[in-house]
This record gives sequence, structure tokens and C-alpha cells, in this order.
Amino acid sequence: MSQNGKVRTIARIIDSIRQREGGGFIVRRPFPTQSVSYVDPFLLLDEMGPADYAPGEAVGAPDHPHRGFETVTYMLEGEFQHEDSAGHRGFLRPGDVQWMTAGAGIIHSEEPSEKIMREGGRVHGFQIWVNLPSQLKMTQPRYQEVPGSGIPTAQTEDGLARVRVIAGEALGVRAVIETHIPIVYQDWTLSPGASASVIVPQEQNAMIYVFEGSVAVGDRQNVLEDGQLGVLGLGDTVQLFGTQTGGRMLLLAGVPTSEPVARYGPFVMNTVEELQTAFNDYQSGKMGEITRGAKYG
Ligand code: CO
Repeated sequence: MSQNGKVRTIARIIDSIRQREGGGFIVRRPFPTQSVSYVDPFLLLDEMGPADYAPGEAVGAPDHPHRGFETVTYMLEGEFQHEDSAGHRGFLRPGDVQWMTAGAGIIHSEEPSEKIMREGGRVHGFQIWVNLPSQLKMTQPRYQEVPGSGIPTAQTEDGLARVRVIAGEALGVRAVIETHIPIVYQDWTLSPGASASVIVPQEQNAMIYVFEGSVAVGDRQNVLEDGQLGVLGLGDTVQLFGTQTGGRMLLLAGVPTSEPVARYGPFVMNTVEELQTAFNDYQSGKMGEITRGAKYG
């Protein structure tokens, strides 16, 4: 068998559904939905907005817990503010990435900045949930925040394909964010005529989510349109092409946990008993609380 050469094709197309998320903000969500619960090891893919909020209209997700997985937030436009029970707080601005390993448990709030709450404005970004294998579900919470300027970028020689490498490796450039299990998370912009290939090892599940224009995958005939998620089949190479309109997409891949998934709202464990424990631990305050300073006093 050749070292690399099996090009992945689109095995399944999932249309995203525009809906109001629990906290109230508008998302475009290919999964989880009624028909697709998760794409191992990814548990959720939300495109937040783009939404243009009027003054006083923006909403976010006030204090809530997580256990058993990681939440990854990537901003394209607008500004988010966050705080958590481990004492982290800050802003996410366009291009910034927050990779939060909830592990054993954390409580956090994620909301548009006070400025956007007050004056209105556009919010656009992504949140994905990455599952953790059973032996890592109760790991110590970990927090990685990288400003947009710190996310490695690369482009093909002709400049027609450009990538921001949040996780994994593309065009010879490696991500700075560390992941517990091998994960690929890349934001690709493909102009008309672009051509690029990425090695994504056989053992990883891979998918492409288009959020602007369209993108051709595998061969030029297989086109994904804005809002579509393409789950890729077996192989070790992902081939990307620019269409006549060009487009922008996320490439996501990861080694599946291949374990049972028990999920209830913000908790994702392996069994119902573990979910019950998570809920009890949250209720009894074992996941901590957000200590708020003078700002709120
Ligand atoms: Co959250």
C-alpha cells in the first residue's frame, strides 16, 4: 500500500438547521439534531450567528456547568466575554480561540461583551464540543486561550488556498494548541481555482462544514454548499478545491472514542449513572462557582 494516496470522498451530507440555542442565541447546527446525535469524537457543532443584535437584544449563556468533554470557541466577528470557576476571565475577539477542557467539571459563563449587549452589533463564531475518552473524562480542567495573532496560518504557493491552523497540521504548519486526543480543526478559505491537500490519518473521522460560498471535496464534482456538513469516508488525504464562487469551511477530524455516549445537557459521560453523579456533584457545589469581584458588587 502506498504511504499516502487514498483520497477521502463525501460519505454523507448533513444540512444544518438554524435554531435558537438554549441560552437564546441563534445558531446554525448540523448536529446534534434529531437524526444525528454526534460524529465521534465531536459532540456538537454550532455556528453562532452571524446575528446582528440591536441594542439590549444580545443574549449569551449565563453560569452553567460542563463535565466530560471540551468546549472550543472560535470567534470570527464580534466579542465574547467569559468567566469560569477556575478563575479565568477575559474577552474573545475576532480570530481568538478558547480551548477549554471541562474534564471533571467547571462552571462558566459565555456572553457577548457588555459593549455588544449595550450597543448591539454582529456576532459570528463557532463552538464545538470535543468528547474525551473515559480515562480523561475526570481529568483536571485545562484552559488554553490563543489570540488570533497567535494562531498559525499558511497558504499555498499561488495564495488561492489559505488556512488558519487551530489544531492539527496543514501545508507544513503545526498548531500551537495542545489536544488530549489527536484533533484537526482548521479554517480554510478557498478562492476560485484553489487546490490543496491535507493528510488526515486513516484512524481519524473527518468532516467539512461550509459556512460561506461552496467548496469542492475529493474531486471537483463533489460540492458542499453553505451550511452543509460533509462527513468524509475512509482514506488518509483530504483534497480541497475552490469553486467558481469560492468558499470558506472548517476541516474537523479526530480519533473516535468508540465508547458509549450518555449525554444530558451540559454533561457528556459514558453511562447514565455517571450523568446522575455529575448532576449531583453540580447541585452540591462540587464543580465550584464563579467568584465575582467588585465589577459586579
Ligand atoms: Co459552556
